[in-house]
Amino acid sequence: MTDKIWLPLFSPVRMGSLELRNRIVMAPLTRMRADNPEHAPTQLHAEYYAQRADAGLIIGECTEVSAQGYGWADTPGLWSVEQVKGWRTVTDAVHRKGGLMYAQLWHTGAMSHPEFFSGELPVSASDVNPEQESVTPSGRKPTVAPRAMTKAEIRQTVADFGQAARNALEAGFDGVQIQANYLYLIAQFLSSGSNRRTDEYGGSTENRARMLFEITDTVLQYVEPGRVGVKIGPMHLAGPFAANDDTLPDMEYVFRKLDGYGLAHLLLMGANTDVSGSPLQELAGDGMFRHFRPLYRGHVIANVDMTAERGNRLLELGLVDSVAFGRPFIANPDLVRRLQQKASLNEIDWPTVYAAGPEGYTDYSVTEPQAV
Ligand SMILES: Cc1cc2nc3c(=O)[nH]c(=O)nc-3n(C[C@H](O)[C@H](O)[C@H](O)COP(=O)(O)O)c2cc1C
Repeated sequence: MTDKIWLPLFSPVRMGSLELRNRIVMAPLTRMRADNPEHAPTQLHAEYYAQRADAGLIIGECTEVSAQGYGWADTPGLWSVEQVKGWRTVTDAVHRKGGLMYAQLWHTGAMSHPEFFSGELPVSASDVNPEQESVTPSGRKPTVAPRAMTKAEIRQTVADFGQAARNALEAGFDGVQIQANYLYLIAQFLSSGSNRRTDEYGGSTENRARMLFEITDTVLQYVEPGRVGVKIGPMHLAGPFAANDDTLPDMEYVFRKLDGYGLAHLLLMGANTDVSGSPLQELAGDGMFRHFRPLYRGHVIANVDMTAERGNRLLELGLVDSVAFGRPFIANPDLVRRLQQKASLNEIDWPTVYAAGPEGYTDYSVTEPQAV
């Protein structure tokens, strides 16, 4: 018998209230299979996620907290009885395989499109067009300038996140992750490029971050901190969201403040484009994790372009606590085993990533178990 080399990636870890069987997290991945009028997950979702239940933790795909937050065709929600029932089928299937699963709570804000609202405008912090593409039921369309939310709408949205978190527990999820990353509503409030408000939700860093913390406080009324995570990071280099001189100080403020909440995790995306010459240039490579580690002492999940080698190195350096894989999980339901056995990975069939039905969703091949 050969001596086994201990590798942190494959060892258990505590994340808040949960004990994960390894440090491999399945990153949230929108797959557009909720193609039914209820926007509810189906048996097909259950099969897909159960196939990937070997991950230490699955973060479910972006899931809208309300009809007003809806804005990407065929994505699932978490505001109706049908949706809760659908998700219960999924979480039961994952739990039967010994897995753990979080729901990712999402409001698309200005990334949505009038097509979702019978011609009415989507909402955001301000009337700034994000200059991206919206995925509507009739295909990709340029985004439009949204309507600025009233304060009553902000209050309602904060409450919607709370209700969706309650629904997530009702649906059997082991926790919830607040989607504060990338182009969506919370990020639209956070960024000085897209938030031109002059009330207490605009202007200073503290004001622009207010919605995130109101949402976090509200979610924590229903879910214990050890079951709440946040996905957040500074990586935006295009359009009104492009990182500007406020971006890094904004993020530092948010990370420091979140550190006091005792949450289960922060999911941090590393640099995914060339940041040289941008205000984020010091965050290239492992720079993202080196920069934020001293500001946030809780569990950090590292993401973007991870390999077993890179993951183990970041874990050994103490820069992060677990490692999330996104694209590799699309084509490799048995990713954990493949990484452990150093087996080659299946390639993604891109035309079926955002598509309907089982093809390219639940039909990727798996390897045979071998002694490692
Ligand atoms: C097809 C696809 C769908 C995605 N959907 C989501 C999502 O629903 N929520 C989210 O926060 N990130 C989403 N992402 C980003 C991934 O979670 C992850 O951060 C990104 O793919 C980088 O990790 P990777 O290099 O391991 O793929 C998506 C990425 C891809 C490729």
